[in-house]
Amino acid sequence: MKTRIAVLVSGGGTNLQALIDAELRGEIPHGEIVMVVSNNSGAYALERARQAGIPAAVVSKKECGSQAAFEARLQGILEINGVDLVILAGFMSILSEGFTKKWPNRILNIHPSLIPAFCGEGFYGLHVHEAALERGVKLTGATVHFVNEIADGGPILLQKAVEVLPDDTPETLQRRVMEQAEWQLLPQAAEMVSRQIAENR
Ligand code: GRF
Repeated sequence: MKTRIAVLVSGGGTNLQALIDAELRGEIPHGEIVMVVSNNSGAYALERARQAGIPAAVVSKKECGSQAAFEARLQGILEINGVDLVILAGFMSILSEGFTKKWPNRILNIHPSLIPAFCGEGFYGLHVHEAALERGVKLTGATVHFVNEIADGGPILLQKAVEVLPDDTPETLQRRVMEQAEWQLLPQAAEMVSRQIAENR
């Protein structure tokens, strides 16, 4: 039986798209994206899920009223759908220890830097690339790691380096890191962990 994957998103969903495309190309033979969950009803990622025919749900923290209620709702949806592996693909909401403890080595995140550089609280979206340019690093990249209670602190699974060019802006660097690292690493990691789960079932 294939590992059942839920992808959690908040925004544009290009990493979700990379996963969908990789699955269609047969590059995630041990896994299947069974649902997409967004914490933002306006996320374009939801449209990508619709176009791919993947069921999607919206769970908003505001409507749930509290972090605990939000996570309980999320947990319920994942359980009902028999999810084995959760992939955070640009999911902009921090999950508490109460939640991550229920999913040991079962939540993956993609971060757009070479952890431990430019990670942790406050390092999200363009801020990561702004900080890399400000520091003047010549190499940056992306990291796929397991998620635990420490922000960007779980065990590292895969990393890929990307060159910083002299004329880079945060936007051009973000794009290069996505194209050359994130969109390749995330599907690879999805297959690695899906295979491990499927084989140990
Ligand atoms: C990516 O840079 C990812 O590394 C970060 O958030 C961004 C999400 O982009 N965690 P997208 O929604 O996948 O296009």
